[in-house]
Amino acid sequence: MVIDDYLYVKDLWLECELSEEPEDGREEVEALLKSSQGTGFVAQEHGNIIGAVLCGNDGRYGYIHHLAVAKVKRKQGIGKSLVEECIRFLQRRHVIIMVRKNNEIGNEFWNHLQFQNADWIKVQFSRQ
Ligand SMILES: CC(C)(COP(=O)(O)OP(=O)(O)OC[C@H]1O[C@@H](n2cnc3c(N)ncnc32)[C@H](O)[C@@H]1OP(=O)(O)O)[C@@H](O)C(=O)NCCC(=O)NCCS
Repeated sequence: MVIDDYLYVKDLWLECELSEEPEDGREEVEALLKSSQGTGFVAQEHGNIIGAVLCGNDGRYGYIHHLAVAKVKRKQGIGKSLVEECIRFLQRRHVIIMVRKNNEIGNEFWNHLQFQNADWIKVQFSRQ
């Protein structure tokens, strides 16, 4: 992903009903793409963005965020390929993804990819 992809990726996040976070702003995404610890990947077909994902590591764990594949392009292996790219980039044994409890599709997908439910962890979140 390059920052010029941003508007297309944002449209895709909207289509995929991913929650909007303050971290999703153009400047924040650009900072992530410029960082040596983070990046993004897009899947393209005929020049159109049909899949996208962000990832980064904090020096200890790797994180994958906002994986999205266009509705009409799902179940063709695109999501899995984007995850594989992230895991290659992250070079981390432990990769964390945060999925909303009510995101049925997301939860089923990650379960299918053998990501385990971390039900022994309580996530506490700071918001300002
Ligand atoms: C989740 C999402 C990214 C999956 O993308 P995708 O391109 O359809 O996934 P893939 O085709 O790569 O699927 C990989 C594997 O997972 C399986 N899979 C995909 N979606 C699934 C689902 N909803 N339930 C169960 N299995 C699923 C596929 O059958 C495939 O299995 P296989 O490798 O054994 O053949 C896509 O549905 C999406 O964008 N959802 C909305 C956004 C979202 O919820 N993102 C996750 C936020 S954390």
